[in-house]
Amino acid sequence: MAQLFTPAATTLFRVVIVLIGAGIVAAGVMAYVWARSDSTWNVGKSAPQPVPFRHDLHSGSLRIDCRYCHSTVERAADAGMPSAQTCMSCHSQVWVGASVLEPVRSSFTLGQPIEWTSVHRLPDYAYFHHAAHITKGVACETCHGRVDQMPKTVKTQTLSMGWCLNCHRDPVPNLRPREAVFTMGYEAHGKDLPGDIRELYREASRRLTSCNTCHR
Ligand code: HEC
Ligand code: HEC
Ligand code: HEC
Ligand code: HEC
Ligand code: HEC
Repeated sequence: MAQLFTPAATTLFRVVIVLIGAGIVAAGVMAYVWARSDSTWNVGKSAPQPVPFRHDLHSGSLRIDCRYCHSTVERAADAGMPSAQTCMSCHSQVWVGASVLEPVRSSFTLGQPIEWTSVHRLPDYAYFHHAAHITKGVACETCHGRVDQMPKTVKTQTLSMGWCLNCHRDPVPNLRPREAVFTMGYEAHGKDLPGDIRELYREASRRLTSCNTCHR
């Protein structure tokens, strides 16, 4: 039978096949890297806010306790957001006429909440509970970073399922004494943890990694 393709055409054909294969693999790798990268999770990105509120000023310089504004963080699922009234407890006296605070004053007068934009919202199918963490010694700083140094509030962790699970498999290295959960820049001391807590969490990690703990 006569040859259908010249040897050169066959070689070209093989090269093309190999290149297509390599392209598919590279696209897959790039998609994977992109899906895993911080930018996909909006880490480090701030959101537009009605008022240019600054944690670095209020928590950092003025040292106002987190609970003054996020008052339900130790007892509920939601940390809670400050009402206009909470801001006005000071801003009826300082920066009284400032135009940047106009949305706060009008919310206060109308008795309506200020509409902050969240940078931390999880999808509805994932369940999170602040108090469950705070009361067991997981600190704000561990999940939210150095909020006291942020001029604009940003996410410092992905909050992906893998991130949650990473801690739930072995929370012990991330636990602090209860009185240090609001501390920023905390340095851990192994001796601060009671000895039998590791054993306790070896048991608990099975419950903490089961699907219906976070998907209920
Ligand atoms: C415990 C008192 C206190 C509370 C509560 C408080 N602030 Fe302030 N805030 C201050 C002080 C004091 C300053 C001025 C600091 C300065 O002039 O250096 C300030 C400054 C500001 C500024 C101007 C910042 C700048 O320099 O650009 C804004 C905006 C502001 N606060 C928003 C808010 C909002 C919104 C709330 C409520 C969520 C709030 N503050 C709650 C004490 C408070
Ligand atoms: C004076 C009031 C005030 C204090 C004190 C305060 N916050 Fe906030 N916090 C706010 C306001 C207002 C917002 C919404 C605007 C923004 O995101 O910057 C906010 C937003 C946040 C968010 C992002 C919420 C979201 O939906 O994405 C986190 C996380 C947070 N605060 C943590 C803290 C921590 C940790 C502390 C203590 C170190 C603290 N805050 C102290 C007023 C306060
Ligand atoms: C174990 C990790 C973790 C810890 C510890 C933690 N947070 Fe959060 N925080 C989250 C997650 C996840 C969300 C998003 C929750 C959602 O969308 O359901 C969030 C949301 C928030 C919000 C947004 C609004 C709301 O009402 O929930 C604020 C404010 C906040 N956290 C403040 C704090 C403060 C203050 C502390 C320390 C006392 C703290 N968080 C400790 C993980 C954590
Ligand atoms: C840094 C460690 C850490 C991270 C990160 C973390 N958790 Fe937890 N989580 C804990 C600890 C510790 C407990 C308390 C376990 C206990 O009951 O002793 C807990 C408890 C919980 C509980 C309550 C479980 C129960 O049955 O009482 C839920 C729900 C939960 N976590 C969801 C999440 C979700 C969702 C995320 C990610 C968005 C997350 N956690 C991230 C450490 C962490
Ligand atoms: C510690 C909490 C936690 C546990 C345990 C957990 N998940 Fe998730 N899961 C999450 C969070 C948080 C998200 C949302 C991440 C995001 O923002 O997209 C999520 C997302 C998902 C998604 C959506 C796709 C994705 O990957 O983002 C699926 C599917 C899922 N989980 C299945 C499971 C299954 C199956 C199990 C049990 C083997 C499980 N999860 C256990 C916290 C958890």
